[in-house]
Amino acid sequence: MKFHRAEEIFLVIGVAILVLSMVITGYQGFAKQMGPPSGMETLDPEKVDEHELFSEPGVYEVGENKYQVVMTLQAFQFTPNNIEIPAGAEVEFIMTSKDVIHGFQVAGTNLNAMVMPGYIQRIKQTFDEPGEFLVLCNEYCGIGHQLMGTTITVK
Ligand code: CUA
Repeated sequence: MKFHRAEEIFLVIGVAILVLSMVITGYQGFAKQMGPPSGMETLDPEKVDEHELFSEPGVYEVGENKYQVVMTLQAFQFTPNNIEIPAGAEVEFIMTSKDVIHGFQVAGTNLNAMVMPGYIQRIKQTFDEPGEFLVLCNEYCGIGHQLMGTTITVK
């Protein structure tokens, strides 16, 4: 089979791009472990209140400068409301939804998570600067969606 020069170049570049992207994806996936989250945690969305993690939503100090915010989301509120945490603390948000899909977005940070019924969402953040951070639901969840918000106060 005889190829044109231009066809050869095209083929070589095409195959090179293909191989390179497979190598990069493989490196990220296997060497850097950048795959989708594994060990997915689930729960019965009808029994959130009875679940050991979510029976008492709130802000907990779990170690030196470490906090957990255990939070449930439902139409159209975040529980607990008005969270206070000290500046510089590492905060793990542990969340689930009691009804439909909600969003958890903290304005001015890169915190942005989807919170789904039946799943436990964990996300970590350190707030270095004191301030008030607006928390919004960014998944349309019903008639009161635009009212669903709270604040995180960092002191
Ligand atoms: Cu909750 Cu939109």
